[in-house]
Amino acid sequence: MMLDLAIRAAQEAGRVLREWYSSPQEIESKGLRDIVTAADLEAERVILSLIRKGCPDARFVSEESYSTIRDYGDFPTWYIDPLDGTTNFARAIPGFSVSVAMAQRGVILCGAVYDPLMDQLFYAERGQGAYLNGERLRVSARDTLASSLVMLDWPRAQTPRDELARFLAWLAMRVDAVRSRGSAALGFCAVAAGSAEAYYQLTLGPWDVAAGTLLVEEAGGRVTDVHGKPHALNKPDWLASNDRIHALMLDARQEFSQG
Ligand code: IPD
Ligand code: CA
Ligand code: CA
Repeated sequence: MMLDLAIRAAQEAGRVLREWYSSPQEIESKGLRDIVTAADLEAERVILSLIRKGCPDARFVSEESYSTIRDYGDFPTWYIDPLDGTTNFARAIPGFSVSVAMAQRGVILCGAVYDPLMDQLFYAERGQGAYLNGERLRVSARDTLASSLVMLDWPRAQTPRDELARFLAWLAMRVDAVRSRGSAALGFCAVAAGSAEAYYQLTLGPWDVAAGTLLVEEAGGRVTDVHGKPHALNKPDWLASNDRIHALMLDARQEFSQG
């Protein structure tokens, strides 16, 4: 079963990250505020090799080695982030994960996100619900912005970072709490688990969100772009929520952008 393969790959890569976590990391720059460590590459190698064996038809969209976003039609396409939260990892700040999902024709069919330090395995299969270590997940029932915790993360590029900083200043005055998680996949998982009401980011890759999107939807939440349009793995901007505050978040963004 493809879900079992996703879970196995996420856990094996997580084991690598746990082992490497406390040793000093060699850090290479990939661009502005964008780094990679040897652990990212080793975790990816482990995942690709497991999936190649378990799913011989697999096609990959994987952050370090296959980052071109392509439409592979009917082929099972695996969206992989071997280490989501490299900045946390490289600074020995807890809060990073492995994200593995499989989609066909753009529809995400199964996915797993593993936090190796907490030993938390989040997983979902389309139509079968979302789970954390075997327990069914449900999004939170909070339905006001004033009672909501919103998670977000910082774009790397200056222009979207500036936009987010201004929206954050506006939003922070209207919500209960704001958190920057440092791992988009764990941000989506927090929404699925009911510990955050929303996650918002303007510049994500498909490997950051493929598994998390299915988890949120299977836990009863909603995922769109930040304008409320249907999400798509090739779009950069994402709003995931418990559904109940989704329209409030979209209205908030619109009110903010109208100045
Ligand atoms: C990053 C994290 C971060 C998000 C960035 C991502 P990485 O992934 O998910 O929370 O804000 O946009 O690129 O580089 O650590 O895999
Ligand atoms: Ca990532
Ligand atoms: Ca990564």
